[in-house]
Amino acid sequence: MLNIALPKGRLGEKVYDLFERAGYACPAIREPGRRLIFENESLGLRYFWVKPSDVAIYVQRGAADLGVAGKDILLEYEPEVYELLDLGLGKCRMAVAGRRGFYDSGERTLKVATKFQNIASRYYAAQSRDIDLIPLNGSIELAPILGLSDVIVDIVETGTTLKENDLEVLAEVVPISARLIANKAAYPFKTKEITELTEKLKGLVQR
Ligand code: PRP
Repeated sequence: MLNIALPKGRLGEKVYDLFERAGYACPAIREPGRRLIFENESLGLRYFWVKPSDVAIYVQRGAADLGVAGKDILLEYEPEVYELLDLGLGKCRMAVAGRRGFYDSGERTLKVATKFQNIASRYYAAQSRDIDLIPLNGSIELAPILGLSDVIVDIVETGTTLKENDLEVLAEVVPISARLIANKAAYPFKTKEITELTEKLKGLVQR
């Protein structure tokens, strides 16, 4: 049995579509309802819907053999998992953003609000830039508007949130997309099944 953690939500639907096209269907998953676990016994598959930021924990701890997690989560938490494939879905970028025209003169500590403290710390450490990190959990865009921070480090997908709040991208940190990840202990035991699935997905992934 292959246990697969899918990220709940819009990305998860696209990810499941891809798995289905690769031959790993579990039709019950399409039925409306609040169930979280779906099994296809004949294919030896079990899917679960997991909060996207929790997928890597399920996989690292072996509750799932495989999962799909955003590169943002992998970079932020550095879970002990194998990263097998870039699925080319959920493409966006991690960026520094601030009020339009904001210029960092470098004269004082830069106030940085973010959900991604490790990514932000590493980014500014590489530039030897002193920062005051302000951890937030959501609506990060408010911080520079209210003067809580100078800039934010956050995910930008369409750019709409920034635009509608008079903010702009000041620098790109790293491109992000969804990745297929595997539990390190399960991999040697289920190499054949995991490799087969990875190869089939690879054939469908748009470059
Ligand atoms: C994410 C991110 C931005 C927004 C970017 O927030 O933190 O706020 O999406 O998307 P856009 O460029 O297409 O506008 P999310 O919707 O996850 O909510 P959050 O405020 O709770 O982080």
